[in-house]
Order: sequence, then C-alpha cells, then structure tokens
Amino acid sequence: MSGSTFGKFLKLITFGESHGKCVGMVLDGVKPGLDISKEEIENELRKRKPGETFFSSGRKEGDEIEILSGLFNGKTTGHPICIIVKNRDVRSKDYEDLKSLFRPGHADYTIFKKYGIRDYRGGGRLSGRETVGRVIAGSICKKILKKYGIEIYGGVIELGDIKAERFDIDFIYKNPLKFSDPEKYEYAEKLLERVKDEGDSIGGKIKILIEGLPPKIGDPVFDKLDALLCGSIMSIGGIKGVEIGRGFEVSKMRGSENNDQFSKDGFITNNSGGILGGISSGDTIEIKASVKPTPSIFLEQNFLSEDGEVVKHKIKGRHDVTICHRVVSVAEAMASIVLADGILYQEKIRESSEIERKRMEIDLIDTEILNLLSERIKISREILRLKKRENLPLFSKEREKEIFESCKIFSRLSGVSESDILEIFQKILEVSKKDEKD
Ligand SMILES: Cc1cc2nc3c(=O)[nH]c(=O)nc-3n(C[C@H](O)[C@H](O)[C@H](O)COP(=O)(O)O)c2cc1C
Repeated sequence: MSGSTFGKFLKLITFGESHGKCVGMVLDGVKPGLDISKEEIENELRKRKPGETFFSSGRKEGDEIEILSGLFNGKTTGHPICIIVKNRDVRSKDYEDLKSLFRPGHADYTIFKKYGIRDYRGGGRLSGRETVGRVIAGSICKKILKKYGIEIYGGVIELGDIKAERFDIDFIYKNPLKFSDPEKYEYAEKLLERVKDEGDSIGGKIKILIEGLPPKIGDPVFDKLDALLCGSIMSIGGIKGVEIGRGFEVSKMRGSENNDQFSKDGFITNNSGGILGGISSGDTIEIKASVKPTPSIFLEQNFLSEDGEVVKHKIKGRHDVTICHRVVSVAEAMASIVLADGILYQEKIRESSEIERKRMEIDLIDTEILNLLSERIKISREILRLKKRENLPLFSKEREKEIFESCKIFSRLSGVSESDILEIFQKILEVSKKDEKD
C-alpha cells in the first residue's frame, strides 16, 4: 500500500514526513564488516541539503544522523541498519492554508483522493525531506561499490534553456548549483535570480555517470539494468523523464550512427550508455533525467478546495526555485542502491550456481553408487544360489576378512577414514547376510 520498500536483496525502507518527528531509513542485507563512519554518511547528506543560497528553500536542517542499529564500532554488523534524522526547522503554520486546498502541480490532490487523509505540512510524505533516507542508504551503497572500484557522480547539465557544454566534475562539487559548465554558470545563476524575482520556479536536467561497473550486472528481461535504474530515478519526486545513453535522441538516428563499434580496447563510442540487453557492457553508464519546475510557486494560481471549489490563491512557505542541484545526490543514491543490489544478486547467482553444479555432480555419483550397489546385491545373490546348489557353507568368515582388508587399503589410498569405510561395508554385508538367512 505505501510503496516505501525498494530493492531485491538489499531491502530499503524509507520513512517519515516533512514536518513529522524524523525522517530515516532501514537498510537490510548489507554484509557484516563494511567500514562506514557517521561522518561519511553526513558528508553525503550535506550534498542533498537545501544550502544557504537564494535559490534554495531556506529551511535550515543540521541533518545530523542518529544510528539506531546495524553499525558497531564504525562497521556494519550484518543486521538491519536503521538511521534517522530529526526534523528541527519546521514551520507548519506556513502550510495552514493548504489544510483544505490542493496546490496545482504537487501531490496534495492525488494523495487525498487515494488515502482520504493527508499531512498537508511541507508536502508530508512527498516532500524532498523523504529523500534523506535514500541518501543515507546511498552513502552505504556507495561504500559497497567503492570496494568493487565503482564510482558514481553527477551534476546539473541544463537549467531552463541554459545547456552545459562541459561536464566538469571538479567544478560541479565547487558550485552550489552543481552546474557542470563553469563558462555557463553565471548565466544559470542569473536565470535563477530572474525566475525567483518573478515568484516562479524552473526545471532542468541532470546527468549521472557510473564508472567501473563490470560487464555482467543486470538481467534480461524484466530486471534489465536500464529498467531498474530508470525506475529508481523516476521514483524521486519531481523527475519526469529518464534516458540512458543517447536516450530520446535515438529516435532520429540511423543504426550506422547509433551502433557502438567494437575495437580491441573496447567500444569506440558509448551511445548505448553502457548497457546492452539490460546488462552492463563495461562502458560508463550514462543516465540523464528531466526535473520538473518546483510546483510550489509564489504566483497566483487556481487551487482546488476539498469541497470542489476553484480558488485563486498564492502560497506561503519556503520552496526551492529549482530542485535540480538537490536531486543530483538523490539520483546518485538511487543508482548506487540499484547497483549494490545488482552486485549482491550477481554474487548470489555465482554462489548458488556453484552449489547447484556441485549438487548435480553429487547426484550423479549417488546414482552410480546405488546402481553399483544394486548390481552387487544381484551378484551376491547369484553366489548364494551357486553355494546352495553345491551345498557349500553360505557364510564365509575368510571372505568377510578379505573384504574388510581391501577396505583398509582403499582407506589408505583415498584418505577416507577407515572406520567410515568399514561402517559402510558392514551395512552392505548385512544385506547379504539377511539374504543368507532367508
Ligand atoms: C530534494 C527535493 C526537494 C524538493 N523541494 C520542493 C519544494 O521546495 N517545494 C515543492 O513544492 N516541491 C518540492 N519538491 C518536489 C515535490 O516533492 C514533488 O513535486 C512532488 O513529490 C510530486 O512530484 P511528482 O509528480 O514527480 O511525483 C522537492 C523534491 C525533491 C526531490
């Protein structure tokens, strides 16, 4: 019903509302012994925070984490990890007008229609605050991926009609907009100033790159890596489109242009965005996502009342002019959760297929043992019949001694314990003895 659980082998649950006591997550399935410190998690969370710039919401949260379980002395224990962040800077009175009014563009209307009840304060469960839990889980998954040499990073590549021509990682982490092109940064900032002055908001596009992924993650057909990555990023509030590689551009391309040609050193181009047939190709995974303009704007709009009346209204409260820069770290987190889950799954397949293979070998040997045993019983019955016909004693102590002697020799040659082999043969000889009595 709530749709708050994610992942196959790594299970993530996020919980909490914007103006509730706390937001947080439970992550289950992380192996024991992974080093992860409070500081590392908080560093990731800092990247998601609104910040103190004119284009961010102005809500000032310390985002200090409280580890409730699953970590001990800076290492994961293998048990469910539960981490929370208390909400401190809430101003619920700003949302009083939204008690019985639905904002255009937000989720107020659909939440009410579905559940018949809604926490109208700060967007409730569909607030950007929900993403705190995702980023905490992402920080742990990024650590898992690092062990495999996999790195994830992202930035803003479009804001309104301003398009970045460069993707400069160093610059992204130095500027509050996470804009990827230093030459275009000033234009982007000016645009945001103008949009904010107009009481409006603006959308954009982000790009996420994943490097170092081996060519085997993802499964055709319903668990294609591109399907899982796109779904995970689409689950972030405000994302309206996700592309892999050349994405929507491929509709205008020819095969001769789109096909990534092979060379001895790898693919010459990367139009596929590092995924073929739902399986990672070993090349860089490239994801782009379109972010809608923040729905809460300060212009007069048509709101709907719970009684079905259309009301002209302007909202109050603190809102981001754009959420693009904030979504980058959330999208990085979602991608790392999908990939850590995929790697865990891959390991499980390998383990289980090795076990399966060995079991099949054992099954073949067991069948051979049983066939030989049945053959042995048949022959010993034949001997019994011959002995009876020739009036010879049925039981021979000498013969039994001979058999036990060869068991001892076999034990020395094979390394299987003498007592085990003797026990097995005593049981086999018991079958013959039963036949003798009958
Ligand atoms: C990090 C982050 C911050 C957000 N900040 C705001 C905000 O300040 N005001 C607002 O109205 N929506 C904000 N949103 C967007 C809403 O959560 C989003 O529009 C809503 O969940 C519905 O989006 P959907 O139709 O794509 O599901 C934010 C989303 C994220 C991920």
